[in-house]
Amino acid sequence: MEQRPLYFDANATTPVHPEVLSLMRPYLEEEFGNPSSSHRWGQKAKNAVDEARFQTAAVLGCSTTEVVFTSSGTEANNLAILGFFSAEAEKRESPLKRLDAHCVTTMIEHGSTLDTFRWLENWGIGLTRVAPDRSGRVSAEAVAAALRPNTILISVMQVNNETGVVQPVQAISALARDRGIAFHIDAVQGTGKLPVSADSLGGDFITLAAHKAEGPKGCGVLYVRRGRRLSPILHGGSMDGNIRGGTHDVPAIVGCGAALIRSDSYRLESAGKAPLRDRFEAAVLRGIPDAAVNGAGADRVWNTSNISFPGVPGEALLARLDLAGLAASRGSACAAGNAKPSHVLAAMDLPRELVNSAIRFSFLPSVTEGDIDRGVEITVACVQGLRKR
Ligand SMILES: Cc1ncc(COP(=O)(O)O)c(C=O)c1O
Repeated sequence: MEQRPLYFDANATTPVHPEVLSLMRPYLEEEFGNPSSSHRWGQKAKNAVDEARFQTAAVLGCSTTEVVFTSSGTEANNLAILGFFSAEAEKRESPLKRLDAHCVTTMIEHGSTLDTFRWLENWGIGLTRVAPDRSGRVSAEAVAAALRPNTILISVMQVNNETGVVQPVQAISALARDRGIAFHIDAVQGTGKLPVSADSLGGDFITLAAHKAEGPKGCGVLYVRRGRRLSPILHGGSMDGNIRGGTHDVPAIVGCGAALIRSDSYRLESAGKAPLRDRFEAAVLRGIPDAAVNGAGADRVWNTSNISFPGVPGEALLARLDLAGLAASRGSACAAGNAKPSHVLAAMDLPRELVNSAIRFSFLPSVTEGDIDRGVEITVACVQGLRKR
């Protein structure tokens, strides 16, 4: 009998929870109104968006006026960074090029943060990318050392998507607050894995994406602390306090609110599952003794194992794993299919051979001991098979 394929790619995305799907469905069918319309269809849709905003605010522990819905985590990161700089340029009545401003981020951020900062850098904004240590953790001290008198924004992720390493965002937040610098936290990979309340994280802007915790793709959230100003990057609508134009994607927003509200349950389902990840890593290392677990020395979320298999090309291994019934990834979902080596592992100063052979395995809370053991068998066999060629 053919066995069910194993999905070890939860950091890319997760299946939509059936309860979430059933709440979304009416807004794809009979309740199809545009929330900006004043008639009854519009009002039903508006009520649904209001409810999702309320649910999202409850998870963030903030006011509903501090919640902005976007099309993705990527858009929320772009909005936080570009929106902040546009607002600053407007406030100072200065073109971006003459802003005399500097920002600090890390070398291990998601592409949606790094590429947005790169774009700003091309427009003359100063940028420092702080390196992590060998275990993939960026220290608050390293961020402090990168600050300059004209630093106005810091952006650091809560959890790295490739290694699962948890970053010290609370300490960085205290630092930013002391210096009066705005702080953006990309909490996309914390969504459903760690608490993401605005007060516990401490950021001025926080990005969430419910599709990492059984919500739908196509919806992101940006928390904007009261008193912080952002200019829109999508113009032409008065939605979300004039910060983000565009007709709301009602089904996705409904699903996002519902998934965030149940993200505590999602987190609880995985409570006590870290030993499964450790079991996976220990067994893979027994089978392939020269394999290396990246980020092993740091505090990591329970579900992520990033493992290098020296001498084995990562792309070839990924394809073989897929054929053998195991879906994993080389790193960020957006980087998949492009054979570029991981910028995260390279920033950790790992030898090229470890960077080129790394695979990210990321587990859903429903993973069982049996899945883990089968995953080990497949992985070891695929690595050995490629080494024999
Ligand atoms: C850390 C991090 N930030 C941002 C994103 C982008 O989120 P989205 O896929 O919703 O655009 C991802 C997606 O994997 C991510 O892992």
